[in-house]
Amino acid sequence: MDAATRRARLLLLLVAATVPAGLCQTNPDDVAALRAVMGAWSNYPSSWNSGDPCGAPWDGIMCAGNGRVTSLRLSSVNMQGTLSDSIGQLSQLMFLDLSFNSGLSGTIPASIGNLAQLTTLILAGCSFSGGIPKELGNLLQMTFLALNSNKLTGTIPPQLGLLSKLFWLDLADNAITGSVPISTGTTPGLDLLTNTKHFHFNKNQLSGTLTGLFKPNMTLIHILFDSNQFTGPIPRELGSITSLQVLRLDRNQFAGAVPNITNLVNLNELNLASNKLTGSLPNLSSMNVLNVVDLSNNSFTASVIPGWFTNLTNISSISMSSARLTGEVPQELFNLPQLHEVVMSKNQLSGTLTMPGSIGTQLQTVDFQENVIVDVAGISNYKKTLLLALNPVCSDKPTVAFCTVQKPNVIAYSTSMAKCNTARGCQSGQDQNPANCGCAYSYNGKMVFRAPSFKDVSSTANFQQLEETLWRLLSLREGAVVLNRIHFNEDNYLQVQVSLFPSTGTLFNVSEVSRIGFLLSNQTYKPPPIFGPYFFIADPYVPFIVAGGKKSKFSTGAVAGIAVAGGVLVIALILVGLFALRQKRRNKELKERSTDPFASWGATQKDSGGAPQLKGARFFSFEELKSCTDNFADSHEIGAGGYGKVYKGTLVDGIRVAIKRAQSGSMQGAPEFKNEIELLSRVHHRNLVSLIGFCFQQGEQMLVYEFVAGGTLRENLVVRGTYLGWKKRLRIALGSARGLAYLHELADPPIIHRDIKSTNILLDENLKAKVADFGLSKLVADTEKGHVSTQVKGTLGYLDPEYYMTQQLSEKSDVYSFGVVMLELVSGRQPIEKGKYVVREVRQAIDPADRDYYGLRAIVDPAIRDAARTPGFRRFVQLAMQCVDESAAARPTMGTVVKEVEAMLLNEPDGEGSNSAGSSATEFDGAGRGAPSHPYSDVEITRSSYGGAGDASDYMPYFEVKPK
Ligand SMILES: *[C@@H]1O[C@H](CO)[C@@H](O)[C@H](O)[C@H]1NC(C)=O
Ligand SMILES: *[C@@H]1O[C@H](CO)[C@@H](O)[C@H](O)[C@H]1NC(C)=O
Ligand SMILES: *[C@@H]1O[C@H](CO)[C@@H](O)[C@H](O)[C@H]1NC(C)=O
Ligand SMILES: *[C@@H]1O[C@H](CO)[C@@H](O)[C@H](O)[C@H]1NC(C)=O
Repeated sequence: MDAATRRARLLLLLVAATVPAGLCQTNPDDVAALRAVMGAWSNYPSSWNSGDPCGAPWDGIMCAGNGRVTSLRLSSVNMQGTLSDSIGQLSQLMFLDLSFNSGLSGTIPASIGNLAQLTTLILAGCSFSGGIPKELGNLLQMTFLALNSNKLTGTIPPQLGLLSKLFWLDLADNAITGSVPISTGTTPGLDLLTNTKHFHFNKNQLSGTLTGLFKPNMTLIHILFDSNQFTGPIPRELGSITSLQVLRLDRNQFAGAVPNITNLVNLNELNLASNKLTGSLPNLSSMNVLNVVDLSNNSFTASVIPGWFTNLTNISSISMSSARLTGEVPQELFNLPQLHEVVMSKNQLSGTLTMPGSIGTQLQTVDFQENVIVDVAGISNYKKTLLLALNPVCSDKPTVAFCTVQKPNVIAYSTSMAKCNTARGCQSGQDQNPANCGCAYSYNGKMVFRAPSFKDVSSTANFQQLEETLWRLLSLREGAVVLNRIHFNEDNYLQVQVSLFPSTGTLFNVSEVSRIGFLLSNQTYKPPPIFGPYFFIADPYVPFIVAGGKKSKFSTGAVAGIAVAGGVLVIALILVGLFALRQKRRNKELKERSTDPFASWGATQKDSGGAPQLKGARFFSFEELKSCTDNFADSHEIGAGGYGKVYKGTLVDGIRVAIKRAQSGSMQGAPEFKNEIELLSRVHHRNLVSLIGFCFQQGEQMLVYEFVAGGTLRENLVVRGTYLGWKKRLRIALGSARGLAYLHELADPPIIHRDIKSTNILLDENLKAKVADFGLSKLVADTEKGHVSTQVKGTLGYLDPEYYMTQQLSEKSDVYSFGVVMLELVSGRQPIEKGKYVVREVRQAIDPADRDYYGLRAIVDPAIRDAARTPGFRRFVQLAMQCVDESAAARPTMGTVVKEVEAMLLNEPDGEGSNSAGSSATEFDGAGRGAPSHPYSDVEITRSSYGGAGDASDYMPYFEVKPK
C-alpha cells in the first residue's frame, strides 16, 4: 500500500466515521410503510414531504445504522387523520409516540401487533375509538403502554396479561367496559403482570369484581381504579402488595369490609371515598408515610374518630365526610405538624370543639359542618378557615363567621410576571415569557397530578420547585415556565395549566415540540416527589393549528406553510439584517451623490411648513418629527411591530398624527419607499387611515398618518365590549368592509391589504372604522404577473389557508381575514384563544335547529347575547362563514359583503343611535379613480377648523368631506 492509497483510505475512514448513521439510505420497505402512514394524515411535518426519512431526517424519525426505522415520535404536532395499517410494516420500530394529536381518530390498527420490537406505545390524548386490539398482546418487549384520554370502548383484552415486561399500563379516561381480565388455566389476564408498576384504569366504565387480580408477588406502586363501576369486596390480596404507594378505589361500588391493609406501609395516598364499604374503619396506624386519606361517603359502622390518627405524623389531608363518626373531636387531631385540612362534615360529632394552643402551622381548613357540636373553645388559637354551619352551636349565632356557609378563600399560586411589563400585551396566540418578558407561542397543556402529598394550592415553595424542575429537566431556558389555573379538579386530582416557552425565537419547531411531548408522555420528566405521579395532555400547539375543522385539503400545505414561513422568516430576518447594514452604508453614499429619489419632490420639501398636499404627500424633516414626539420618547409610543414603532405626535399646527418609524431591519430601498408613498397618497377613503406625509432623511423612513383617537377594534372589544352593542358592531363591520372594498375594487391600481385583523381596524370617536396599516399591501398588478410570493405574510389566526398552500395571493385572502374579524365581532374573542381557533369553534357549534342562538350560545360575546336571537345575527354569521370558506372561489367579494351588511343594518330596529357609518351603499370619496357616481362622489377634501392644539381636536376628525 503506497502512501497515497493509505491517505485515501484514511480519508474514507474519516468520512465514514463522521457521517451520522442516519445518512445511510432508509430501507425501502420502511420508506413505503412511512409513506402509506403519512397518506392517512394531514398536517404532518413539512420535512415529510421530501428527502430520505432516515437521511434528511424526517421530523420524529430515528433509525438504526442499517437504515431501519426504530422510532416514530410526533407528539403534539396537531396531525389529523387515522393510523394506517401500514404502521405494522415498520418491523424494527421500538418507539411509537403520537400523543396529544387530538385530530387523530379511527381505530388502533391490529397490525401494531406485528411490531415485535416495540417497547413504547404512546397514543395518549388523541381521539382513537373502537377497541384495544388483542394483538397488542404479541408485543413481548413492551414496557410502556399509554392509551389514556382517547375514546376507546370495548373490553380490556386478556392478552395484555402476556406483556410480562410491562412497567406502565395506562388506559385511563376512556369508555372501556367489562371487567378486568383475570387468567384462567387457558387464558391470560392482568394478574400475570408481576412487573407492572402502574395500573391506571381510572375514569372508564369498568365493572365486575377484582377478585383474583392481585397477587402477593406483584410490584405495583400505583393502583388508580377510581371513577368506574367496580363491585364486590376489595380483595384481601391487595393487602400484600407492600410496594403500593397510591391506592385510589374511590367513586365505585365496592362493598363489604375493608380487608387488613396493615402491611401497606409505603402508602402515600389512600382514597376509598364514595363506595358502599361497611364494617369498621380500617386501621391505618402503621402507615407512617401516609399524606392523604379519604374515606368519605361509605357505610362504615358508627365509631369515634380513631385515636391512631395522631400517629400519622406525615398526614396533610384527612377527609371523612359522611363516615358515621360520633363522639367528641380529639384536640390532638389539630397538633399534627403537616396537617393542611380536616374535612369531617356530615357526621354525628358532638360536644365541644376545642382548638388547642398548639395548632399545626400548616392547618388551613377545618370543616365540621352538619354535625351536632354544641359549643366551641379556643377559637382564638386558630385564624384560618373554620366551618361549623348546621351545628347546634350555630343555631343561636347564625351570623358568626364560622357559622356561615363559606367557601375557603384560597388564592392559588400562579407564576409571577411581576418583573415584566404586562401592560404591553402580546399579539393573538402569543404570551409573555417570564424568562425574558418577550412574546412567544408557548407550548401548553394540563398536568394532572394523581396523588400529590399536599393539598395547598397556594404553596409557593412547591410550585416554584415544579417550575424549576420543568425548565431544568426539559432543557428550557431558566424560568421559561408559567404555571396557572391550579386547582383540584372534579375527580379530586391536582390540575395545573403549564406553559413552556421556546429558548429562542417565538416558536418551537416540530422536533422541539415532539421532544418535549415525549419527555412528558413517557414520564422521563419527573416532578418533585411531593407531586406524585402525573399525566400530561397538551393543548394543540397554536402555530400548528390550521384553519378548518373539517378534514381539509389545505391543511397539509398549511402546516408546511407555517413551518416554511417560520423558517423563511428566520432566514429573511438574518438576510434583512445583513442587507440593512449594507443598505445603511449605501444610503450614505447615495446621499452624498445626491441621487435622492425625492429630489423631484423638492417643491414639496420647501413647502413643508404649509398645508398638507393631499394629492401628494407632505415631506417632513427628521427634526420636525423628532420634536413633535419629544425625540421619539417612550411616552409617545402607541404601538410596535416587526417593522418598528409607532409614535403619536402633534404637529406645530395642532394636527395629531401617528408616525410609523421603520427600524433598520425593515427599511426598504429608496425606490420602493417612494413607490409605497405614491401608492398610499393616492388612497383616500373615509374608512381608510390616510397618509399625511413621510420622512426620508438621516437614514430614516417614516410614514405620517392621520391619528385616529378611538383605539383599535380589538382594544374596544376588550375594554368596551358591553358598550359595543350589536348594531354598533354591524356598523364597524360595514365601515371596515367599505374601506377594504375600496382597496380591492376602486383603488387604482387595486390593492390587497394582506394583514386585515382587529388590531389594524381603528375606530374614531364616532366608532367609524378605519382600516390601517398598509405596510404589507400589495398591488394586485404584481400578483397577476404570476408572481408567487416566497414569503407568506400576515398574522396567524387571520391567514387564508389557501394562500398558505399556494402562496398565490388574491383579494380573497383579505376576505378570509375579514371573515375572521366578523367572528371576532360575534364572539368578542381573539381568533386563537386557549388553543381554540374561532373559525373551527363556530363551524362546529353552528346548529340551525337552535332557534335562539344558532348553536352559538357558548361562543357569542355575552355583551350581545340578546342580539343572537335576531335573524340579522344569523345572516351575519352565515356571511362570516362564507368569507372563511376554505376555497377562495367560494368566498364573496368585499363588495358583496358591503351590500349584505348594509341590508342587515337596514333591517335592524332603531335603537342604538343614528347610523354613523353612512347610509349609502357606495359612500366612497372621490380620490380614487373610478369612484361611482353618487351625491358625494365629486368632493374635495379640506382641512376642518380646529380648536387649540391638543384639546377638543383630540376628538375631532381633521378631514371632513364637503360636497362641492
Ligand atoms: C407469582 O405468584 C403466582 C402464584 O400466586 C405464581 O403462579 C407466579 O409464578 C408468580 N410469578 C412470579 C413471576 O414469581
Ligand atoms: C392484620 O395483619 C397484620 C400483619 O399481617 C396482623 O399483625 C394484624 O393482627 C392483622 N389485623 C387484623 C385486624 O386482623
Ligand atoms: C402511636 O405511636 C405510639 C408511639 O409513638 C405507640 O405507642 C402507639 O401504640 C401508637 N398507636 C397506635 C394506635 O398505633
Ligand atoms: C422514555 O424514553 C427515553 C428515551 O428513549 C427512555 O430512555 C426512557 O427509559 C423512557 N422512559 C420510560 C418510562 O419508558
